Amino acid sequence: MRLPKAGTIEIAPSILSADFARLADEIAVVESAGVNMVHLDVMDGHFVPNITIGPVVVEKLRKCSSSVFDCHLMISEPAEYAERFVEAGADHITFHIEAAKGPEKLIDKLHELGCTAGICLNPATEVKTIEQVGPLCDMVLVMTVHPGFGAQAFMPEAAEKVVRVREIVGPDVRVEVDGGINSETVPIVVGYGADTLVAGNAIFAKTDRIAAINAIRDSCR
Ligand code: DX5
Ligand code: ZN
Repeated sequence: MRLPKAGTIEIAPSILSADFARLADEIAVVESAGVNMVHLDVMDGHFVPNITIGPVVVEKLRKCSSSVFDCHLMISEPAEYAERFVEAGADHITFHIEAAKGPEKLIDKLHELGCTAGICLNPATEVKTIEQVGPLCDMVLVMTVHPGFGAQAFMPEAAEKVVRVREIVGPDVRVEVDGGINSETVPIVVGYGADTLVAGNAIFAKTDRIAAINAIRDSCR
């Protein structure tokens, strides 16, 4: 699957808050609600103080899902590992500007590998750091919490950066938000120009995941 062209609102459930013993089933449920993008949070215990999944898990999930796999690499050496995630089945790879040594080179490499590329900014990182590379990407991810954990409170001042990011990248690059996204915060970020909405806790902490996705969808209108 390819990252959908900019111009539509997409919900990307983050499986970080899903039941890790039943990941394939959890993905199947959100797909039954019409979702076709899944956000996979990769953490290395170094760039962020938490450890999650690696390429072996992505590879197994790939066999169970035809959704776009939106892999968010919260790792210190994205250039070392990006290709392994593409081989495992990632469709889109986002890496952090704070960790990237040669972001342009990695964006080119991802494109050569047939993968779309994204750059991510932490709440404390200024938008000017991605002025050059943002327009080279297919999607820019604005963190609306400090990365590392699900279920944190939305940071309104971090979300405001979406406005400037959208000005920099124009209408053809997706702008994604991640952290504390729910039906209350969606109207704010969509108003700022975000079109790709990552939600973990707002979906997987609910018994009825489908109703949770529909509530987020309704809040976009
Ligand atoms: C946090 C991750 C997020 C996380 C979002 O570091 O990048 O994708 O799952 O979780 P919620 O939606 O619960 O804030
Ligand atoms: Zn994420």
